[in-house]
Amino acid sequence: MNSIYVGQNATNVLFRSLFQRLRLKSFRKVQTRSLFLSELVPSQHKLSFVTRDHEEIYKKSIQEPGKFWGELALSKLQWITPFTKTMDCEMSKGQHKWFMDGVLNVSENCLDRHVQRTPDNIALIWEKDEPGTHETVSYRELLKMTCQLSNTLKNHGIKKGDRVCLYLPNSPLAVVSMLACSRIGAAHSVVFAGFSADALASRIMDAGAETVITADQGLRGGKTINLKQMVDEAVSKCSGVKRVFVMSRTGADVPMGKIDIPLEKAMSEESNECIPEPMNSEDMLFLLYTSGSTGKPKGIQHSQAGYLLYANLTFKHVFGYEPGDIFSCVADIGWITGHSYVVYGPLSNGATSVLFESIPTYPDPGRYWEMVERLKINIFYGAPTAIRLLLKYGNDWVEKYDRSSLKVLGTVGEPINAEAWYWYNDIVGEKRCTVVDTWWQTETGGVFLAPRPGPDNSMPKPEFATRPFFGVEPVLLDSNGKELVGNNVSGNLCIRGSVPGLARTVYGDHQRFLETYYTTFPGYYFTGDGALRDEDGHYRITGRVDDVINISGHRLGTAEIEDALDYHPDVAESAVVGFPHEIKGEGIYAYVTLKEGAVIKLEDLVLQLKNLVKKEIGSFAVPEIIQVASGLPKTRSGKIMRRILRKVAANDFHDLGDVSTLAEPSVVKDIVDEHKKLMHSKS
Ligand code: WT7
Repeated sequence: MNSIYVGQNATNVLFRSLFQRLRLKSFRKVQTRSLFLSELVPSQHKLSFVTRDHEEIYKKSIQEPGKFWGELALSKLQWITPFTKTMDCEMSKGQHKWFMDGVLNVSENCLDRHVQRTPDNIALIWEKDEPGTHETVSYRELLKMTCQLSNTLKNHGIKKGDRVCLYLPNSPLAVVSMLACSRIGAAHSVVFAGFSADALASRIMDAGAETVITADQGLRGGKTINLKQMVDEAVSKCSGVKRVFVMSRTGADVPMGKIDIPLEKAMSEESNECIPEPMNSEDMLFLLYTSGSTGKPKGIQHSQAGYLLYANLTFKHVFGYEPGDIFSCVADIGWITGHSYVVYGPLSNGATSVLFESIPTYPDPGRYWEMVERLKINIFYGAPTAIRLLLKYGNDWVEKYDRSSLKVLGTVGEPINAEAWYWYNDIVGEKRCTVVDTWWQTETGGVFLAPRPGPDNSMPKPEFATRPFFGVEPVLLDSNGKELVGNNVSGNLCIRGSVPGLARTVYGDHQRFLETYYTTFPGYYFTGDGALRDEDGHYRITGRVDDVINISGHRLGTAEIEDALDYHPDVAESAVVGFPHEIKGEGIYAYVTLKEGAVIKLEDLVLQLKNLVKKEIGSFAVPEIIQVASGLPKTRSGKIMRRILRKVAANDFHDLGDVSTLAEPSVVKDIVDEHKKLMHSKS
């Protein structure tokens, strides 16, 4: 059942794992510590994570974070050397240090300890792009492959602390690549295989990666994506890349150059045993690039122990996971959702995780539910954008499949509107399942706000991510940084106090880390989102308060798209905003002004601009609408008034706010007229 054991039981779990490792010296140290930690709750007392205890545990987690997380870290993770210092965190400095002198290995926690007990349990079910086909991988097989790849990497000179870039389709070898990096202590940087060669190149360079792992091709919705070709183009711009491992996905005959190594062949020559590298809790586990409101994407750096513990615990308690459940998170491993809830959360729990390679509408809009029936999925975790898309196709595509295995339905990545929430709850879940709307970010490592199956079954609340997970203390601040206390308030969503899952820094740029997250509201982590707290104290996310837009759950900085548009020789200036989009949540709307004397046909310009964005970032960032404007609304100090541009893009001209502070107020009328003309021509 959903319960944690503290005190006596934690010691027993620990005893077993440490005894097996014959590290009795460390055991003595931990036993003392465990007794100390058990002050939190009298030993023998079993605290269960059900309604009655939820509030009690939550309070303790906030009041005594060191004791709370310390106890869990000892009982949930397998340590090579257990820690003696639990935490040293200072929010004002953006400093998060957890379980500091502890030593462990993440891949050992995800593999070896399960292989010792239940080697034949299924770790991964690879739902292949080809409809109706899947392959399973047991924990024993996953460990074997991980060791083979670890040895391959080591033999090619990759060592602890190196960064390895992964550009791969959702596949067992992608998971193996992540785990092999963690086994040898190298940090992986997974780049979503929908990013362009240029975007890939800039991420390879920023991370200083000498190694790339890719595939011949990817398959998505029956279409092939030439991954190797993209990597070749990217690598031609990165002189630092020394080797590219190429996995075979489609078996296509792709050109292999001097630095290219066939992955499976290299692995087959290696031993299937590899001693895991002892890693300090605070060493870097991985980098994941994400967009912000300014500048180029930043490499969010996560830790070993704090991240793993947070992914482990949220996986179990946000989704109500119980041993034997089949869990399916349909996200790509290129995003944080794939890291935490396809790979690290499920595998560290010894769970069976479905790895979904396809898209929700291939071969038809019944894909998810056919898969649910065939694989007997118990917990399904997806994106609101897909739910909105599927509901348009009607209920038949859902109802023709047996979904009686389902018990929890999760969503993530963007707000879910009431219509989509009810469809998910009533039609997909037949009103039997718990819908958990989970709010979190690349930076938080795991879910921060969500209802919990079990305790929260009686209070479904569409559009609300409801309440914080254990150890997370959300606060709302007004624009002056004053805390808004009480209920029925809305403001900037911040977090008071450290949480083990939070990112540690921006790779190579700690200053940027501080400026982005810790200086706007000193003493807090600033999420960049707005939220309201209702009369029940529940949170509802109201959207980003910065210049970040969210397209189908993909986060994009408007500045990044503007940079791409500005490359065009005829473009003087550009401003990108989001506008409400029925399926994607937000669509991309770009305003451009042209240089004086520019002579170009409108269709040519639009096409060239779209291609530029595709080349610089990727197809998913291409603006839906491009409006050539005669001018942009600016303040006298030259700042573009995006508020006005957002309203116009949303067809909302009624209250454009105070335009008197604009340098040229007449610009607004022109923009509105141009917009109306453009919309008219499109309809
Ligand atoms: C941003 C983080 C967390 C994994 C996927 C996205 C938005 C995320 C929700 C939700 C409303 C949400 C926020 C957040 N977001 N989940 N349940 N309701 N908005 O990770 O790319 O780091 O984006 O996604 O705006 O800040 P990400």
